[in-house]
Amino acid sequence: MDFKTLPAPKDGLCALAADALLLVLPAGKLADGLDATLAGVLGAAVDAGDLELVAGRSLYLHHVEGLKAARLAVAVCDAAASPKSWRKALAAGYGLIKGGGAKHAAVALAGAALTPAHAEALVAVAADATYVYRHTKPSAPAAPRLARLSLVCEKTEAKALDAALARGRGIAEGVALARELANRPANHCTPAHLADEARALARRHAKLKVEVLERRDAEKLGMGAFLAVAQASHQPPKFIVLRWQGGPRAQAPVVLVGKGITFDTGGISLKPAPEMDEMKFDMGGAASVLGTMRAVAELGLAINVVGLIPSCENMPGGGAVKPGDVVTSLSGRTIEILNTDAEGRLILCDALSYAERLKPAAVVDIATLTGACVIALGKHRSGLFSSSDTLAEELLAAGERGGDPAWRMPLDEEYDEALKSNFADVGNVGGRPAGAITAAKFLQRFASSYDWAHLDIAGTAWKSGKEKGATGRPVSLLVHFLAERAG
Ligand code: BES
Ligand code: MN
Ligand code: ZN
Repeated sequence: MDFKTLPAPKDGLCALAADALLLVLPAGKLADGLDATLAGVLGAAVDAGDLELVAGRSLYLHHVEGLKAARLAVAVCDAAASPKSWRKALAAGYGLIKGGGAKHAAVALAGAALTPAHAEALVAVAADATYVYRHTKPSAPAAPRLARLSLVCEKTEAKALDAALARGRGIAEGVALARELANRPANHCTPAHLADEARALARRHAKLKVEVLERRDAEKLGMGAFLAVAQASHQPPKFIVLRWQGGPRAQAPVVLVGKGITFDTGGISLKPAPEMDEMKFDMGGAASVLGTMRAVAELGLAINVVGLIPSCENMPGGGAVKPGDVVTSLSGRTIEILNTDAEGRLILCDALSYAERLKPAAVVDIATLTGACVIALGKHRSGLFSSSDTLAEELLAAGERGGDPAWRMPLDEEYDEALKSNFADVGNVGGRPAGAITAAKFLQRFASSYDWAHLDIAGTAWKSGKEKGATGRPVSLLVHFLAERAG
């Protein structure tokens, strides 16, 4: 898709050369400054009760007399034209025209100023509406014809908004990769497939290097927790290391760790059958790391980033790890695996220990870790846990800017008691109360030597039901975080 700014006066929208005009109106009263044609037709629509100036409303009109664009979609956002509300209005307005014959739409906001966040949101909405999964469904409908979007702005705003559109594009490519990989079923998207995708990414960018550790490498290193999860699967485990060298050689990297369980059956602690198919999304953290690395590379961010992806399947079987088994993690600490379905923290703890040798500036792990996080926060905000207030603030702010919000959760030491074991240094589960927090407390034990944060994306990485599919979250949050650090 093609995104550009289109400098034009607000009272000249009727003369714009485009197939469609998508006009967003702030709620309340009809915005001043529109040309007579639009003011007339919209005023009449309001008077007739066909358009209420309330956030969430929209209206489609065809061949408006005096309007050069053949199609007019109007959508109402909140009175302040907040980026979040603008995003929702765009999605509604975009939905009205995307299935039609328009190839080029001009997009305008009446009566309020555009910011870079608005420009980025436009790209995100368009990319989201255009993505079609076809890897195992080639019969899926074709992508909409609408392929060109022009954001109407003042001449003086064009430079900043064009930069924002470019950033939006980089993020959208990362989001698309994350969605695509997570959507692929587990018989296609195996650990080996993720490794291949990482290699393909590295081939496209000179500053991106990849290394894939095999089972025997992990054995030599002593990744006993990671290997315990992998041991019953016929798919060989992969530990992927992706290095983006965008900053000075000596600069300490930001390390992203993504949970890459390509299918989570629960293991011997087998999950119930309903919705078990959704456990193909249990590599959503890994997908977001690959997507973020792609965006970082496309945008050429001036920062060093390392992506770590421990990837395997969690399967039952004659060779599977059993409840009560004790394994030795890379850190040397022993873990009693009380529940084999709490496997994410087992593969992550070894990755967090591995991260120590990279002397990181900060480590952020991203994981579809707990059903409890879905109960706590639902599907709107990811759970954020951090031992550093500064890092937490950075990530929360990045999520707000990127339209990909998170919410901070506590890590009080009292929650740690639940993880005590009579047979090992730590147990891998802490019971039902505060399940998202005790999972984070488990990880924190392995992340004590650097600034660390954990994003539980169990509720946000995919949608269920009729719209079942990956969201590509939290790629936007992560790219905004890294872009801010890159300066
Ligand atoms: N991948 C799941 C978490 C999950 C479950 C995400 C449902 C989204 C929807 C994770 O590996 C898991 O099974 N966690 C257990 C932990 C429990 C055994 C302590 C859970 O949340 O039930
Ligand atoms: Mn599990
Ligand atoms: Zn899992």
